[in-house]
Amino acid sequence: MCGIVGYVGNKICQEIILGSLERLEYRGYDSSGIATIYNDQIQLRRTVGKLSELKAKIIKEPVSGTIGIGHIRWATHGGVTEQNAHPHLVNSEVAIVHNGIIENYVELKKELTDKGFLFSSDTDSEVLAHLFAYVIEQGLRPVEALKAVLSKIEGAYSFAVLSKSYPGTLMVARNASPLAIGISDDMAIVASDATAMAHLTRQVTYLKDNDYAVITSKRLDIYNGKNEPANREVVKVNVSPVLLDKAGFKHYMEKEIHEQPDAISHTISAMTDVNGGLSAGLDLQSLAKMKGIVLLAAGTSFYAAQIGRYWIERLAGVPVVCEIASEYHYRNPVASHQTTAIVISQSGESIDSLMAIRHAKNLGLETFGIVNVLDSTISREVDKILPTRAGPEIGVASTKAFTAQLVVLICLAISLGRQNGSLDVDKAVDIHQGLLKIPGAIGKSMTLFDSILPIANQLKNSHSCLFLGRDILFPLACEGALKLKELSYIHAEGFASGEMKHGPIALLEKGLPVVSFVSEDESARKSISNLKEAEARGGFIIVIGTQTAVNLIDFATEKIIIPDCDPLLTPILGAVPAQILAYLTAYEKGTDIDQPRNLAKSVTVE
Ligand code: G6P
Repeated sequence: MCGIVGYVGNKICQEIILGSLERLEYRGYDSSGIATIYNDQIQLRRTVGKLSELKAKIIKEPVSGTIGIGHIRWATHGGVTEQNAHPHLVNSEVAIVHNGIIENYVELKKELTDKGFLFSSDTDSEVLAHLFAYVIEQGLRPVEALKAVLSKIEGAYSFAVLSKSYPGTLMVARNASPLAIGISDDMAIVASDATAMAHLTRQVTYLKDNDYAVITSKRLDIYNGKNEPANREVVKVNVSPVLLDKAGFKHYMEKEIHEQPDAISHTISAMTDVNGGLSAGLDLQSLAKMKGIVLLAAGTSFYAAQIGRYWIERLAGVPVVCEIASEYHYRNPVASHQTTAIVISQSGESIDSLMAIRHAKNLGLETFGIVNVLDSTISREVDKILPTRAGPEIGVASTKAFTAQLVVLICLAISLGRQNGSLDVDKAVDIHQGLLKIPGAIGKSMTLFDSILPIANQLKNSHSCLFLGRDILFPLACEGALKLKELSYIHAEGFASGEMKHGPIALLEKGLPVVSFVSEDESARKSISNLKEAEARGGFIIVIGTQTAVNLIDFATEKIIIPDCDPLLTPILGAVPAQILAYLTAYEKGTDIDQPRNLAKSVTVE
């Protein structure tokens, strides 16, 4: 999974390609590279490390030319080395950048090696470069060359190819991995998403699966998987053209934690109908059809799904199952009792989530997407979008998109409950009123940065940490653990409080941090007993809850207080201290908060 860029036009393209790569850094950042054609020669620069390393190299050794390709890598096949960085150059003739995985690369590599081709990397992508070099040396022109190479490869890909023999032409193709083509009068730019080009053009065409295209500064010829010329709609994209900045915060994550009051207010507005009621943006007919729901998601979005299940079942009495996206599409899920699949994705590009929702569509379910990036593949493919209005999220660890997803899910639960009569109007109004107070309450929670800092200072020296929660707070415990491990690399696991005694309690030893979300509802008494068991074995007990809830745990070593709220809404307010705890622990440890090791914001490989 990586980001790719290609440009052909009448401007020197080095800075244009670097600018677009900068906007794709969320897709990977372990190495990067650029190749251009100048004076009939391919110029190549690659470096290991973040994009800043490539920029530094290019200052010393600039490239020229008005056609070029660029790449930012998240290693899949082959370690993080300059040799494995893209573009891959073969015979000084062909350079390629690739996002995805060529699944039959082992066979292809053997075939090519037997023909005498020498490989210089450990990547699957290099076979693409050799295949293009081979067919172009055989005299195939760009369209024929693409056709020939595509007939040989299997897997997920979006790629861009330069050939010295066709110095004004970009060859591109996609299957499963996204590829957008931006066009204007005198140039074309391709990239893994439209944000990477919105500062240059808003006119964008999205290739469909198995499409390929030959692009010059004046022409765009697209072909479909049957090798027929294809017309693809040109759409005007609305993504922000500016490169986002940190607005005075140390990290994007810190900024995004602070942006949650706005993200939530905007999301509530998007879920409010003209009469001021919560509607989830769906008409009564669509709601009436929802008799059984499957929620599909990955990572943090999966924990939002799990919290959503509690709400939808409790408030609307509609059965819900949550499925990890990467598992769902390889099983044979029995969907006979289901009507609706809802995929939850910040980016709208996670390949697992995309494949899962396609699978659900094939099973005959109506498809909905709770998506933050509206110009994304998932947004385009689902029957209906329920938008989160969190705004661009840059920090790899999701924060404001998660709480905005929760808002959409509770609005959906309320709308469904009202529609099918499971939820009475007074309770619905109560929850709505409570929801309207959340942005203010999160604003107040920003003081937690000061009170959590000493706890983070202790936590940073731990090797392991448990997160507990019962009922609706169990998935929040899993999300809290995910945040901590993503950012601080401390091993952390989330458990249902009641499950502790069935195994995880064996991990308890003196000083082991146990972070527990506590509520003031009927589950509180049982959670207290579970925590007592942890305390009795020497656990370092940290509790997160409202003042009333934490007062019940007088034996806790540390207490993190969230503003008062309806217990049903605790997951939204409780998410904030969990984010701050992970952020500050990572900060105190000195890890890379916005781009943690080995992670990427949008995972576009299976
Ligand atoms: C990656 C990110 C996670 C994110 C997950 C799902 O693993 O590192 O932070 O939760 O993808 O992403 P999505 O964009 O589909 O919500």
